[in-house]
Amino acid sequence: MSELNGKRGAFIVLEGCDRTGKTTQCKTLVTKLEQANVQARYMNFPDRSTQCGQLINGYLTRKDDFTDEGIHLLFTLNRWERMKEMEKLLKSGVNLIVDRYSYSGVAFSSAKGLDMEWCKAPESGLLKPDLVILLTLSMDALAKRIGFGDERYEVPTFQRKVVERYKMLMDDQYWKAIDADRPFDHITEILYDEVVRTIENVGDKPLGKLW
Ligand SMILES: Nc1ncnc2c1ncn2[C@@H]1O[C@H](COP(=O)(O)OP(=O)(O)OP(=O)(O)O)[C@@H](O)[C@H]1O
Ligand SMILES: [Mg+2]
Repeated sequence: MSELNGKRGAFIVLEGCDRTGKTTQCKTLVTKLEQANVQARYMNFPDRSTQCGQLINGYLTRKDDFTDEGIHLLFTLNRWERMKEMEKLLKSGVNLIVDRYSYSGVAFSSAKGLDMEWCKAPESGLLKPDLVILLTLSMDALAKRIGFGDERYEVPTFQRKVVERYKMLMDDQYWKAIDADRPFDHITEILYDEVVRTIENVGDKPLGKLW
């Protein structure tokens, strides 16, 4: 794919409930792209390494408490912290494979009862992905995944609400839903095809902004 050099990078996001395989798939995709000599970088949100990320980590591991509004804004700020760097990378031709983004933030906070429009407002102006892949899994399949239930949000009733919110946010123009209840390598193949197609088509399209 050497003809891709010189173009801007594509901004690709993987979304889905907890334990649907986002992190493992994102990292595998980056490795495959690099093997094909395509520049790619893995990023994830929340990014627990930043100062703001440390506060989020305390909350997720149930040590600290915040209001629902407060933690929502922290998650959003965590994305704003990385915007300049992401824009620079994309413009220099690096493809970003991003593990969760604003859609997780809005889906989770609105599933807790916050107004969806209120949740979207501070995300407005963040970079808009070229492709969002939503990994879907039935509740039964989800409960069988290793580690499910370890963190604050990993309760089936809550995850069901998150799925409903994702459906409300879905935009067919740049979203693809993929059934994740299949062997890992099979999913990787499907995702890789989608990713490569997006990278090839991104051309000189200007970077978009969210909402
Ligand atoms: N297709 C698959 N079939 C069976 N198990 C899988 C599949 N994909 C991932 N897993 C397993 O499910 C678990 C969760 O995977 P992973 O951490 O990638 O999910 P995640 O969506 O990033 O989760 P989280 O939202 O908690 O960060 C891991 O143990 C992983 O090995
Ligand atoms: Mg993960």
